Amino acid sequence: MTVYSELQADIEAEIKAAGDLAALDAVRVSALGKTGRISGLLKTLGALPPEERKTTGAAINAVRDAVQATLDAKKADLEAAHLASRLEKERVDLSLPATPRPKGGVHPTLQVMDEMISIFAEMGFEVAEGPDIEDDFHNFTALNFPEKHPAREMHDTFFFKPDEAGVRKLLRTHTSPVQIRTMLAGKPPFRLIAPGRVFRCDSDQTHTPMFHQVEGLVIDKGAHMGHLKWVLETFISRFFETDSVVTQFRPHHFPFTEPSAEMDVRCSWTGGELKVGEGDSWLEILGCGMVHPNVLKNCGIDPDEYQGFAWGMGVDRLAMLKYGVPDLRDMFAADARWLAHYGFGAFNAPNSASGLS
Ligand code: DAH
Repeated sequence: MTVYSELQADIEAEIKAAGDLAALDAVRVSALGKTGRISGLLKTLGALPPEERKTTGAAINAVRDAVQATLDAKKADLEAAHLASRLEKERVDLSLPATPRPKGGVHPTLQVMDEMISIFAEMGFEVAEGPDIEDDFHNFTALNFPEKHPAREMHDTFFFKPDEAGVRKLLRTHTSPVQIRTMLAGKPPFRLIAPGRVFRCDSDQTHTPMFHQVEGLVIDKGAHMGHLKWVLETFISRFFETDSVVTQFRPHHFPFTEPSAEMDVRCSWTGGELKVGEGDSWLEILGCGMVHPNVLKNCGIDPDEYQGFAWGMGVDRLAMLKYGVPDLRDMFAADARWLAHYGFGAFNAPNSASGLS
């Protein structure tokens, strides 16, 4: 029997030495596999005389069972050690303070611009763009601001230093120059909006040196003030999600429109909350009018053949009104906490199918 106990001792030593599950399996195969050492012994039983076969067979089976038991025990040990080391490696200290990732958000101004674009796009308006850095011609002259007229000063323009040719560029004071650029580059009819940044040297509770406007322009043979009123009232009713919009048009002056008006919307302020379409307050929303014939002429369009209307509205103010932002200056303070509170999720892109707010 010693030969069997020696073999058993050898195999058990190998099992003991196996450092991981793969090494252990190799030992198993070499001992108990089809061509393994113990299996080899079992195959020799057939050649023995029957009485020897019984005792020898029992002895080999005892070795096999003992080796199997040692293998099982070692396997359980290795698995437990493996699990323990993983648990140690992947340990998370739940008592540590959490460090949340910085969270981005869509600024209310951008959200409202997207809402406006989606409303006007449904009405068939295109989106036009122009540069932030403009020249005198597009920002003033072509828009029928007379030379040296105080209206130019009223815009609190940021001027650049004149270049070598003496040309003085400026930061556009409104989105109206996009009207000029688009009309000069194309042919009527036009139906467009121009959202963008504008700049004026002004800063207090309700003014920031940079703010946003959306310009609108419709030029066609029969475009008239009734269309203007319908377009704007439809816009307001979609934007504030109400069916009962009441507007009033107050006469005003803009060099680029004749007649010109400011449009107010009936509203109520109860408990500091704005409700559009009821009450007896008026909210000034935008400036508008019929495009001045001189502006059409400056863009190569015959005012006897074409006419149209235009408007310009402040986006930030409408965003504040719609989403209850109290101070305009906070809108551009770049405070992440403010944005986390007032911002919108990047996947909430407004569209008329899923809703606008
Ligand atoms: N550009 C004007 C401003 O910034 C707003 C404006 C008024 C635009 C009347 C227009 C308009 O197109 O017709 O104050």
